[in-house]
Amino acid sequence: MSYNIEKIKLNNNIYMPSIGFGTSMVVGEECAKIVKKAIEVGYRHIDTASAYKNEKEIGKALAESDVNRKDLFITSKVWKDSMGFDNTIRSFENTLLDLGLEYIDLFLIHWPKNNDEKLNIETWQALEKLYKEGKARAIGVSNFLEHHLKIILDNCEIKPAVDQIEFHPGLMREDTRKICKENDIIVEAWSPLGKGKMLKNELLIETAKKYNKSVAQLCLKWCLQNDVIPLPKSENEIRMKENLDLFDFQISDEDISLINSMGYFDGSDMDPNSFN
Ligand code: A2P
Repeated sequence: MSYNIEKIKLNNNIYMPSIGFGTSMVVGEECAKIVKKAIEVGYRHIDTASAYKNEKEIGKALAESDVNRKDLFITSKVWKDSMGFDNTIRSFENTLLDLGLEYIDLFLIHWPKNNDEKLNIETWQALEKLYKEGKARAIGVSNFLEHHLKIILDNCEIKPAVDQIEFHPGLMREDTRKICKENDIIVEAWSPLGKGKMLKNELLIETAKKYNKSVAQLCLKWCLQNDVIPLPKSENEIRMKENLDLFDFQISDEDISLINSMGYFDGSDMDPNSFN
C-alpha cells in the first residue's frame, strides 16, 4: 500500500517527507530490523542522533534497503558533549561514517546549551560550514525555545530550516512555534504520542472515534494540521503502518481548536531551559 505522504518545502527549497520515523531508545540488531521494516512499509524520513547510539545499525538498515538514497531523508543530531566548532565537525564525520552515508539530509543541534551563547553560536557555525560544503542538505536545531532561537537568528549567516521539539496535545509551545513561523522554520514533533501517554486521554479517545481513527492517528493528524511534522516511533509493523495512514481524513476546525485548548496533562518533563 502507498500512503501518499506529502512533502514539505524547507526554507532552502529542499523537500522533506511530512512524517518521519523516530528511533530514540532502539538499539542493536533490533534497531536495524525495525528501521528496515519501517522503510519497507513506506517511511522515507528517518530521524536519529549520535546520542541514540544506533547510527551504525541504521546505516546497516539503509545499506540493506533497496530504496534509492535520494528518495530517503535522513536526520541526525550533534549531542551536548560534542558541541563547539571542531567537536561538532568531528561528531558529524563520525555520524556520516556510522550511517555509511556521503551526505546527510538534515543535521541538528540536539539541545541548546543554557547560559552559553558562545558555544551555541560556534556549534551553529560548524553546521553552516557543513551545509556550505554540501555535507548536510539542510541544518537546524532541536529543543530550542524562543530565546535560544533568537541568539542563533541574531548571529547566523544561514537560518535554521527546522526546530525539532517535544510537541503533542497539551504541549503546544506557542511562543516557539510563533518565532519559527515568522522565520520560515519548520517545526518537527518528537514524541508526538507523548511516548504513548496521549493514548489514554478520554477527550482524545472520544474525538478519535468520530473519525473512525485511532488516537495515535488523531494525534499525528493534529500535528500535521498545526503545520508540525510528527516523528512517531513504533516497533510494531501494524502500528508503523497505522501511523502513516493519515492522508484520507481531515480533523474539523472545531476539533482542532478543542485539542489545541487542552492544558498540559503529561509529557517527558524534559525542559530545554534546565536540561543540561
Ligand atoms: P510500540 O513500539 O509498541 O508501537 P512516541 O512516538 O510519542 O515516542 O510514542 C512511542 C510509543 O507509542 C511507543 O511505546 C509505541 O509502542 C507507541 N505507539 C506508537 N504508535 C502507536 C499506535 N499507532 N498505537 C498505539 N501505540 C503506539
